[in-house]
Amino acid sequence: MTQDELVEKAREAARTAYAPYSRFSVGCAIESVDGEIVLGANMENACYRLGICAEISALTAARQAFGLDKVARVAVAGGHIGTDGSLAGAAPVTPCGGCRQAIYEAADLSGIDVAVISANGDGTETIVTTIRALLPHGFGPASLKDAG
Ligand code: THU
Repeated sequence: MTQDELVEKAREAARTAYAPYSRFSVGCAIESVDGEIVLGANMENACYRLGICAEISALTAARQAFGLDKVARVAVAGGHIGTDGSLAGAAPVTPCGGCRQAIYEAADLSGIDVAVISANGDGTETIVTTIRALLPHGFGPASLKDAG
């Protein structure tokens, strides 16, 4: 799948967000090393702090579909749902700190510096980077090797 196609998947996933409180819809598409795709979207709650991010939602789907150690690329897109039902917005959405940590876990398991593509709602702007660039000196499974 091309990068543009993966971003489109993330934009489509954002339309399934449940975000009545922030009205900020985020979608995430994760591609495995074998080209399998899973999706996730943010899901908020009346108890605000219980909301979950699109990336966490997609990572749980990835775990079910192919395993965290096969995560190769993560695309994220976010913004508001326009009157025509499509996702819109100017600024690319980079994963929050907590989601970086969760993606890092997958990267540490696989040994792959997972690609992270952040898109704006319109799908016209992207920031392409990797999880190790987004979370330098991260703490992951390998950091526990000195545990007793
Ligand atoms: N959100 C995500 O789903 N992923 C991110 O990386 C940034 C923030 C969601 C959480 C909340 O439902 C809404 O966006 C506003 O913060």
